[in-house]
Amino acid sequence: MPTRDTAGPGDRSRDGNDAAAAASASAAAIDVDGLELTYADGTVAVDGIDMTVPEGEFFGFLGPNGAGKTTTIKVFATLLSPTGGAVRINGFDARSDSRKVRESIGYMAQETSIDPELTAAENIEFACEAYGVPRDARTDRVDELLDLVDLADVADKRAEEFSGGMKKRLDAATALVHRPPLVFLDEPTTGLDPKARNRLWEYFRRINDLGTTIFLTTQYLEEADQLCDRLAVILDGEIVADGSPSELKREVGGEVLDVELEGGQAAGERAADIAREFDAFGDASVAETEAGISVTAETAREHGTDLLVALRDAEITVTGFNIRAPTLDDVFLAITGEELDADDGEVAR
Ligand SMILES: Nc1ncnc2c1ncn2[C@@H]1O[C@H](COP(=O)(O)OP(=O)(O)OP(=O)(O)O)[C@@H](O)[C@H]1O
Ligand SMILES: [Mg+2]
Repeated sequence: MPTRDTAGPGDRSRDGNDAAAAASASAAAIDVDGLELTYADGTVAVDGIDMTVPEGEFFGFLGPNGAGKTTTIKVFATLLSPTGGAVRINGFDARSDSRKVRESIGYMAQETSIDPELTAAENIEFACEAYGVPRDARTDRVDELLDLVDLADVADKRAEEFSGGMKKRLDAATALVHRPPLVFLDEPTTGLDPKARNRLWEYFRRINDLGTTIFLTTQYLEEADQLCDRLAVILDGEIVADGSPSELKREVGGEVLDVELEGGQAAGERAADIAREFDAFGDASVAETEAGISVTAETAREHGTDLLVALRDAEITVTGFNIRAPTLDDVFLAITGEELDADDGEVAR
């Protein structure tokens, strides 16, 4: 064991601070600074985005059709070269070290890339070959991945016989053959029914639980909400919001307290005045509704009952109340002024 006296300069790297610095320097799976991508025809698809995704995170990239999600992923996967800015993937520069980037990522494209004529097992074998998985490791790898996405029972069936959800699962498995620490999933569930979608979510969670960083694009607010540790909302090539789903919901202004009242409009007006004057709600937004009032406030849950007491003290009769969280729909609407209608999205084939 080295003593203080014998420790040479080489030991500095094992010093606590340096090791921590090195660990944090290598902890970003994705590091993007001012990324721009303008297509040859002049279309500005990505207009200066910055983001950092730490290793192990489940990150969501949410946006409507044409927002720039696929373009961004293609830059990350080195299929497109950025026209501006810097992109580092797993510590490698996407421009100058594209081969190393490719070796260190899995990529599930928006259009399925499996071969319908091949069986499930053959598709994975083919991917093993393409990604240079050593021959003697392939059989085990194929079995392991078929198990992971629950396709072992249909290993020898041709992919053309699969449902849309099964095809997507197989496609996800082929992106994992080389055990990449980072996987890009471009709208993996668009067009699938809720059951198939739920099932895919399970696999994605499983992959993430195994330590894989996931970067997922989606048009589904619920998907982002269910899966992602953190997300960014992209609109017209720019990131217009980012944070955890709950942070984003909080930015909308907390929770929503719906109060039902007796006494019609007059009671509603009086109750709304009381709620507006209610200090504990801070910057609340108060609306009169058909049934009574609706209060959106950071502290709606905490101080909701205090408001009910205040209303009773003012001799306003409360017939019912409900506290609900804002949804990511509220977030998207607040940020963009647009509804995100994922069902306009294309159907997965
Ligand atoms: N090869 C291309 N040449 C020119 N413009 C393109 C090209 N590919 C995409 N675009 C444009 O770039 C913008 C962003 O497209 P992108 O495919 O990245 O959006 P997206 O968010 O993935 O949309 P979707 O949800 O429909 O898949 C759009 O205006 C699109 O029309
Ligand atoms: Mg796309």
